[in-house]
Amino acid sequence: MHWSFDFKRIITHTDRVIAKAKAPDIIKLSWGEPAFPPSKKIREALLEAFNKGYTRYTPPAGLQELREAISDKLRRKNKIDTDPSEIIVTVGGTGALHLIFRLIAKGEVITIPNPGWFAYPSVIRVAEANLVWIDEKKYGYEALQKAREGLKRKGKELKAIVINSPSNPSGYIFSEKQLKEILDFAEDYSAYIISDEVYEDFILEGKHISIASIKKDCVFTVFSLSKTYALTGLRIGYIVAPDKQIAKELTILQLHTCVCPTSFAQYVALVCIRDRIEEEYISKWISVIKENIQYLDKKLKERGITWEKPKGGIYAWFPLPRIDSKKFAFELLEKKKVAVAVGADFGTKWDEYIRITTAVEPEIFREGIDRILQYYDEIQK
Ligand SMILES: Cc1ncc(COP(=O)(O)O)c(C=O)c1O
Repeated sequence: MHWSFDFKRIITHTDRVIAKAKAPDIIKLSWGEPAFPPSKKIREALLEAFNKGYTRYTPPAGLQELREAISDKLRRKNKIDTDPSEIIVTVGGTGALHLIFRLIAKGEVITIPNPGWFAYPSVIRVAEANLVWIDEKKYGYEALQKAREGLKRKGKELKAIVINSPSNPSGYIFSEKQLKEILDFAEDYSAYIISDEVYEDFILEGKHISIASIKKDCVFTVFSLSKTYALTGLRIGYIVAPDKQIAKELTILQLHTCVCPTSFAQYVALVCIRDRIEEEYISKWISVIKENIQYLDKKLKERGITWEKPKGGIYAWFPLPRIDSKKFAFELLEKKKVAVAVGADFGTKWDEYIRITTAVEPEIFREGIDRILQYYDEIQK
């Protein structure tokens, strides 16, 4: 059978590590989710959803009261002035990205940051689009113009620019200057910006700026409840569309993809956002993440390994000189029972990098780091 995209290219090494890391005694630092338990209020909200009868189809763009709560949150927290009719509740951030790419990207070219989340290439390929990696730190007017000229020579246009701040995997936060340059480019060359802000609440240094707070008419912003509320299984995210018409088109796509996101999950999301549940624990999680980063930093320094500490997000992204990350991750899993994400999946020059989750209890994190570095030391001998 012949499919429109190549399955071999959409399965990553990290997907394989995660699939293999099933046993309960494995330290799972490969996962993109906070390992902390979700708030008790969330469990209560789920029961409440059933008692209140949120068990049926909802409007395809999501519950009206949820979209209103999101609109208030966007105004308060992100300084994005938007109407509920421009918001679509989706099946996680992944569902959001998929709808956007399906709408605008078939056969087109999209830039993504290098390094960038290992699933971007796969989601883009599933939408039958193409991608170009651009160095995350150089992402700005000049780099985008250069990429565009390269594409022009091949008879192609640049349709959209993905940014992810704070970044998975590097924890990089885009500066206001960079965001403004990206906006200028998008305006000059009629490109869309897709701003993935699923880590907006994990700020370790500096501040988070939503690009749509500067200007929003060419920006799709993607948010998710997965990380902020440790609710990766809830599968709720949302899109802020550039305008009402585009929101309508995304809604129709969603209607004919999955009808609507799960009704009671939407109710839980409503409680989370309306009651600002994250405010009771997020600073505690951030302290744990910082503590874990300190530990890792000390251990890497002892080996003379230089790396850049993350400014946001829930990951540490660092090199282990002279390793092949693909081989290393599988051997580490087998020999030391620790799962890590494979650097090579995150772009074009990261063969010696690994990514680990920092949103983990410190004892587990330390044990994981010790085993990783012990194995690293062993293979250096
Ligand atoms: C950068 C980024 N965007 C989007 C997502 C999607 O998350 P979800 O589909 O759980 O909302 C993830 C998950 O790891 C991510 O790291």
